[in-house]
Amino acid sequence: MTKEQVLAALEGVKSPDGTPLPKTGTLSDVVAGDGKVFFSITVDAAEVPGWEDVRKRAEAAVRALPGVKSALVALTAERRAGAASRAPQAAASATLASGQARPGPRGEVMQGVPGVEAIIAVASGKGGVGKSTTAVNLALGLSALGLKVGILDADIYGPSLPKLLAIKERPQTVGGTRLKPITRYGLTVMSIGFLIDEETPMIWRGPMVISALTQMLREVEWGALDVMVVDMPPGTGDAQLTMAQQVPLKGAVIVSTPQDLALIDARRGIAMFKRVNVPVLGIVENMSYFQCPQCGTRSDIFGHGGAQREAERLGVPFLGEVPLHMVIREKSDAGLPVVATEPDGPHARIYRDIAAKVRDQLAGAAGRASPKIVIEA
Ligand SMILES: Nc1ncnc2c1ncn2[C@@H]1O[C@H](COP(=O)(O)OP(=O)(O)OP(=O)(O)O)[C@@H](O)[C@H]1O
Ligand SMILES: [Mg+2]
Repeated sequence: MTKEQVLAALEGVKSPDGTPLPKTGTLSDVVAGDGKVFFSITVDAAEVPGWEDVRKRAEAAVRALPGVKSALVALTAERRAGAASRAPQAAASATLASGQARPGPRGEVMQGVPGVEAIIAVASGKGGVGKSTTAVNLALGLSALGLKVGILDADIYGPSLPKLLAIKERPQTVGGTRLKPITRYGLTVMSIGFLIDEETPMIWRGPMVISALTQMLREVEWGALDVMVVDMPPGTGDAQLTMAQQVPLKGAVIVSTPQDLALIDARRGIAMFKRVNVPVLGIVENMSYFQCPQCGTRSDIFGHGGAQREAERLGVPFLGEVPLHMVIREKSDAGLPVVATEPDGPHARIYRDIAAKVRDQLAGAAGRASPKIVIEA
């Protein structure tokens, strides 16, 4: 089953005004493989109600194709460039200057978040490798370098920022519709945990997360930020890939542990970002070696150095290694991240060094970004 077959099937699905779906200009790239198909339909916020039925029919049409085991079609609301602000030209050129806008697979421009220079994802192929811990300390490290940093928790499976940053309060609304993020340790923070109830069954979270994510990007008063760090859900499944497609990412940081198994997952993570044209800024090896809290002795319990070799093999930068250390775990889980609470300690230094490499990679990525993107206002 190929992308072309999917598009052919979608010709039979009509938009509210009768246009065949592939001709409406609302489709994202169609990802098809392993019996799984997914793509998103992006329309003006005001038109969403009329399109829900189109989404359902598109999903049904794709499911009916031979060889298709699962189909996920996400309906997302996004104001187009031009409709978004009073000064579309200025907004558009500001977005371009920051290198944030990225041409989509159909040549349309994925809009950045106004005021936010660069959005980067912290991702991993599998869960529990220390992605959230890394995301928080990396964000704090970037902040320690003098950057204005926000952090967005997009992990539908288990939002962790409320715990890692000891946030108990709910965000306030401004003007009825927009949310005011929480500020902690100088970071501007928003978590999907604030929007999705823990009791919501997983099966609903997938589709919901797309609109929740759009909301967290567009309807939150992020203010001016140099970098927004996004803590992604673990894994490389449909939800993750859709998210990687929905957020105008300038780069991704992959977290891996040194074991072979985790590295296979890390490789999948890298492949996923390559597929959606997001540059991989580098790999962090977490729980790289064990450091005894009593005597400081280092033991390479997982056979250290795997991530660095893998990074070299794959031609992506190696950003650094973080030891498995009791203090990191205790502080993290108590909402007292080491970079903020022990800034002079050895762990904070490691994270700041990683942050500096990420910053340098971002600067490089901006230099490489193509300036030849045209937006119709
Ligand atoms: N370098 C480290 N040293 C010691 N403990 C660590 C380290 N990194 C992470 N941990 C601990 O490992 C556990 C998992 O970390 P974390 O929640 O950051 O992983 P994750 O990849 O985000 O997990 P999930 O997939 O569930 O989102 C936490 O208890 C955390 O405190
Ligand atoms: Mg996590």
